[in-house]
Amino acid sequence: MARILIPYGTSEGQTARISDYIADVLRADGHEAETLDLKHAEHDLPGGYDAVIVGASIHAGKHEGYVGDFVRRNRPALENLPAALFSVSLSAHADPEEAEKYVAEFEDATGWHPSKVAVFGGALLYTQYGFLKRMMMKKIVGGQGSTDTDTGRDYIYTEWDGVRRFAEEFVARLGPRAAPE
Ligand SMILES: Cc1cc2nc3c(=O)[nH]c(=O)nc-3n(C[C@H](O)[C@H](O)[C@H](O)COP(=O)(O)O)c2cc1C
Repeated sequence: MARILIPYGTSEGQTARISDYIADVLRADGHEAETLDLKHAEHDLPGGYDAVIVGASIHAGKHEGYVGDFVRRNRPALENLPAALFSVSLSAHADPEEAEKYVAEFEDATGWHPSKVAVFGGALLYTQYGFLKRMMMKKIVGGQGSTDTDTGRDYIYTEWDGVRRFAEEFVARLGPRAAPE
């Protein structure tokens, strides 16, 4: 059994939901998993974990700055553990190359190059946005040629099977020490 920490950043909650889902997959596989909202946490990686999966989402082309701060600050510890990164964005659904570019920029900015990386589609949560954000997102999305512009509903692009596979593959690579007892 492995103890796995999932520190994440989120602005509208989708990365938190994905982190919870990953934790559920890992627990169902016999491991201990905890999520950590970095916005409300101390910035040191807590000890006692065998592996770490960092999550962050994209707004205006960038991951949350506080996730970058966390990674920079804890890079030596992250480099000494099996660790992965997942990035959540609309691009991961609509323009995967762009989503990969965001990850490459994050890696350049933090100096951290995790051995496993995934990009997951996020969500357009029109019904939860305030007026200005709702109109701005409708304009951006419509301008990209998408028809997902009905602001009376939300659009969820996260492919949960892909998230499950990512978690299962990550944990499978931890080796026999991490096998469920
Ligand atoms: C104000 C705003 C700006 C965004 N900017 C981008 C962007 O530049 N590129 C992109 O691919 N997705 C962008 N998105 C989409 C978010 O990445 C997506 O909604 C994701 O699910 C947010 O995750 P979170 O809820 O964990 O913060 C943006 C969303 C909002 C609300």
